[in-house]
Amino acid sequence: MPIPHPPSPTEKKATLCTRIPRGELCRTHSNPNLKADDNRFLSLRDEINRILGPSSGIDSSDVSVDEIMDAMKQYISSEKDWNSFALSDPSRNYTRNFVDHGNGKANLLLLVWNPGKGSLPHDHAGAHCIMKVLKGSLRETLYNIPEATAENKQQPLSVRKTTVYGNDEVTYISDDIGLHKIENASSTEIAVSLHLYTPPYAEKNGCHAFDVKTGKKTKVEMCTYYSLYGQRNVTQEAKGRSC
Ligand SMILES: [Fe+2]
Repeated sequence: MPIPHPPSPTEKKATLCTRIPRGELCRTHSNPNLKADDNRFLSLRDEINRILGPSSGIDSSDVSVDEIMDAMKQYISSEKDWNSFALSDPSRNYTRNFVDHGNGKANLLLLVWNPGKGSLPHDHAGAHCIMKVLKGSLRETLYNIPEATAENKQQPLSVRKTTVYGNDEVTYISDDIGLHKIENASSTEIAVSLHLYTPPYAEKNGCHAFDVKTGKKTKVEMCTYYSLYGQRNVTQEAKGRSC
C-alpha cells in the first residue's frame, strides 16, 4: 500500500490536544474509524500508554525501557495499520507525524524518511527515545558527546559506530549514550519509523543539532509537527528536523 500524499491544506485544521486526564488517551483527536480492537498498531499505542501509566513515565521506578522495547518488538509492522499517520512530503528530508501523547508525559511520532535523506546529528533534550523501524531500513550513526570546549574552538564529532536497523528492529538512545543521526539507508525506497520520546522535553524545550565538522551545536525548536493524529497540520510551519 503506498504512503498517502498529504491532504489538501483546505482540509479541517488539526490542533494538538494539550489537556487530557492523567492516564487517559486522547480520544477526542483519535480517528474514530480506527479501532485498537482490529488494528495492532493502535493496540501497541495503547500498550505503550498502559506501560507508561499515569506516573512520570519512563523515569518512574515501575517503568522500564526494556518493557516498552519488548512491546514494540512484539508488534509486527503492517502498513495498513499505520498508513493513515504516515504523511510524506518529497520536498523535505523527512516528516514528523504526531500519533499520540498518552498520559501527557510522552510523544509518540511516526517519521517518514525520503530515500537517501536523514537528520542532522542531534541530542535528545535529556529524554529517552525508543525507535522501531516500521518499513525499510535506517542507518544510525552514533557519536560521542563532544567535550566542552572554548567558545571559538572547533572539535569534529567522533563516530563511535554505525548500525543499520531493518524492518521491525527496535533501538534506544538517550543523552547518556551519545548523539546520533538517522538516515534512510535506501536511495530508492521510503522508510518509516516509530519514535517514543519520554518525557516530551524536546517538544517543550527544543533539542540541539550538531555540525559534524565543527561540533558546533544549534538550538532547534521541536514544537511543530507535519501532521497531528493523521491530519495535515496547517496551523504551524512544520520543520523537518527531529530529536
Ligand atoms: Fe534521535
